[in-house]
Amino acid sequence: MEGWHFVHDESRYRGRRGLVPDLRPQAPLLRVIPDSRRQAVPGLTAPRYTVRNYISQRKLLQHTHLATTRPPRCRLWTKMADFLSDSYARLRTIVSQRDDATLPLQTSLDAGAASLPQEGDPDFLAGRGAQDTVDHLLGDIVPALNGQNLSSRYFGFVTGGTLPIAEVADNIVTALDQNVQVHLPDQTVSTAVEDAALRMLLALLELGAPGDWPGRTFTTGATGSNTLGLACGREAVVASRLPAGSEGATVAKAGLLGACLAAGVNRIQVLTSMGHSSLSKAASIVGIGHDAVVELPASDDEPWRLDLDAVERELARDGVANIIVVSAGEVNTGRFATNALDMPKLRSLADRYRAWIHVDGGMSLCALSLPS
Ligand SMILES: Cc1ncc(COP(=O)(O)O)c(C=O)c1O
Repeated sequence: MEGWHFVHDESRYRGRRGLVPDLRPQAPLLRVIPDSRRQAVPGLTAPRYTVRNYISQRKLLQHTHLATTRPPRCRLWTKMADFLSDSYARLRTIVSQRDDATLPLQTSLDAGAASLPQEGDPDFLAGRGAQDTVDHLLGDIVPALNGQNLSSRYFGFVTGGTLPIAEVADNIVTALDQNVQVHLPDQTVSTAVEDAALRMLLALLELGAPGDWPGRTFTTGATGSNTLGLACGREAVVASRLPAGSEGATVAKAGLLGACLAAGVNRIQVLTSMGHSSLSKAASIVGIGHDAVVELPASDDEPWRLDLDAVERELARDGVANIIVVSAGEVNTGRFATNALDMPKLRSLADRYRAWIHVDGGMSLCALSLPS
């Protein structure tokens, strides 16, 4: 959107007011003016609104319009529904006819790769049409995909097999294109569904009452969770060191550099034992850095266990803020970094030294749902 400016336009707002009676009546409408016309607009100063303001206002208008008009079921709509059902039925037939080898044949891999668009092909960016694309996907690509979902004998990666009911649920989300980023309880139950699932998960894993976890959310996976966990930790450990009078200089507000300067923090460390490789990736994404991940194994025999004495020595360092990452459990062995006795000790250490605890349960936390 470079080269566009968003201008507060009261007069236009007044003219349209009657058209948008329910939509944030205090909010001014926005007018978009391209750079080329910018000089010609009298009184135009610096842009005062962002792209997002403008889009969200348009979206609100669209929402209201779509919610009150029901499109007729035209022939195109029926054709589209048939296309989807037929394509999916074909996919399911192909999947059910696969043999139980979980890896595709080399010939299928080669054919799949050769069927992909290549720069230099005259039709590289040409549209193929929906039917042709389905034929390509089902005929060339699907035979070249592995069957990790189809057999318990696939050990190539840890991705779990999708249960049939999970596939159904996934398809519902796709068919109705739901969005859980915005809470619109009058328009969809989707965020309530997500929260119900989160509350059930808390109960299943016996992690305590929902009120203890006000910031609960799903992420895209364990790497996403580690990134989010370190981002939350970074925010908290720096904020807890801000002196009186600069409480507002948080990482979120002042940025990592500004907040650390204000808080007298010259290093943020991540203390762990056999942390998953994604932890270092997450540390680099949130500006803490790979090198700040400190391995503190209890011993050579039990490298996955966290050495609590070593943790305390690190926590006591001056000018250093710490995030403790507990592996629950370690990716190769499933072993946990702590036991039931270690956790309360770790909690009191973290409280004493203003550290944050993040538990990476990507591998074995589900064990908590077992009866014993
Ligand atoms: C302990 C642990 N953390 C993080 C990850 C990364 O998970 P994902 O692939 O879901 O991002 C894994 C994956 O094996 C893991 O075992």
